[in-house]
Amino acid sequence: MKSSRMLWVSLVVLVLGAAPACSQNGGEPKGTRAVASAPAELREGEQKFNANCSTCHGMGGVGTTQGPPFLHKVYEPNHHGDAAFQRAAANGVKAHHWQFGDMPRINAVTPEDVDHITKYVRWLQKEAGIF
Ligand code: HEC
Repeated sequence: MKSSRMLWVSLVVLVLGAAPACSQNGGEPKGTRAVASAPAELREGEQKFNANCSTCHGMGGVGTTQGPPFLHKVYEPNHHGDAAFQRAAANGVKAHHWQFGDMPRINAVTPEDVDHITKYVRWLQKEAGIF
């Protein structure tokens, strides 16, 4: 179970890493990041996500041992709408889908930050073909 999830996660990283990076305009040398950089308008969300959410949800939303991946059907917009992101950040989440334990409330982000983060996560999900 664990190892099949790891395999799946590495596959996602591979796919994302191999995806044509539209933002690869010479700024960053190739191969320094596992995840393609987001388009300019999503960079703020990317930075906030990396700073506040990636410790558990993983760089690029692939999940970690501390939290679930967002590149998963269960978090597509129809299952967890954008309001779920606001609620999660503001109130925390009682463990219900997974075995990672509860998610704490994230004090460091404002609703506006979460808005940016959600847009970035939707972009990641789209890139990964989740919806
Ligand atoms: C300390 C670890 C941790 C951090 C940091 C964290 N999360 Fe989570 N998050 C979790 C865990 C664990 C769950 C899964 C709970 C469950 O359903 O079992 C979760 C679930 C969620 C969910 C699903 C909520 C639902 O309704 O099921 C959303 C949305 C979410 N997190 C957003 C975020 C965002 C946005 C950030 C950053 C601002 C963030 N998380 C930071 C651990 C974390």
